[in-house]
Amino acid sequence: DLYNFRQIGSDTKVHGVIGNPIGHSKSPHLYNSAFKSVNFNGIYLPLLVDNVANFISTFSSPDFVGYSYTIPHKEAGLKCCDEVDPIAQAIGAISCMTRRPDGSMMGYNVDYLGAIAAIEEALRAREGTNGAASPLAGKLFVVIGAGGAGKALAYGGYEKGARVMVANRTYDKAKELASKVGGKAITLEELENFHPEEGMILANTTSVGMKPNIDRTPLAKKALSHYSLVFDAIYTPKLTRLLREAQECGATPVYGTEMFINQAFVQFERFTGMPAPKQLIRDTLAKNT
Ligand code: ATR
Repeated sequence: DLYNFRQIGSDTKVHGVIGNPIGHSKSPHLYNSAFKSVNFNGIYLPLLVDNVANFISTFSSPDFVGYSYTIPHKEAGLKCCDEVDPIAQAIGAISCMTRRPDGSMMGYNVDYLGAIAAIEEALRAREGTNGAASPLAGKLFVVIGAGGAGKALAYGGYEKGARVMVANRTYDKAKELASKVGGKAITLEELENFHPEEGMILANTTSVGMKPNIDRTPLAKKALSHYSLVFDAIYTPKLTRLLREAQECGATPVYGTEMFINQAFVQFERFTGMPAPKQLIRDTLAKNT
């Protein structure tokens, strides 16, 4: 059932998720169900890997066309690509690798695309717009955190034409990231009283507020009324204190789970070249979480 074995043939496209540990991954069930639902002749395997470079050179047959990367291999995966998307290069990590017709491997980071797509969708719904232009364009976009996820959100906002501000506990890291995305750095203390305009967008990428510390929040409630939308990369719990208080202040909350769902849509499309079966992916994840 999991792999739709009756479909495997010489032209079946093989995919997998590379990580360690990998047993808990929901991706095999998710992608196999999604492939089957659109009649895509592919399978998706959990791949427990220690050494990414050895693995990729061993499984370099053209049948292996796509890999997802998870903890702790997102940085090592980047070094195994023949070419890397410029944003993934800037972030320093890939989440997905696909084989091109000439056999070479191309690396991407779809984690950031998932988060940005979720924010854009919620902004469009809030503003009642649906044009081609990004609703992030021109907005003041505040990213808290400057680690892997912070970099991803900051580059994503920059790419969409937002004015990016980076706030981080370690200010030097905020400065370094801000300079790369044409933005400004700010301390966490300054952020409490920072409201040059209304309708700003906030993205938390730190672990502040994650289980078991659910009573913590990266930004005091009094600051939240100046934001129209607040995204939290944390997904345990789904409703963090930050998102609950943002909602109480009238902002639209965007859950960390949406980042995961949206990156699955993007990745499915990269693997198959077909539109993602969005409802099936949502239902499969809801059933398995
Ligand atoms: P990820 O890849 O998930 O972004 P990371 O690279 O470890 O994880 O980055 C964690 C981010 O959360 C950093 O920006 C970190 O701030 P520092 O650069 O000062 O370390 C931030 N962070 C983690 N714990 C924090 C805390 N208790 N208060 C404030 N910021 C915190």
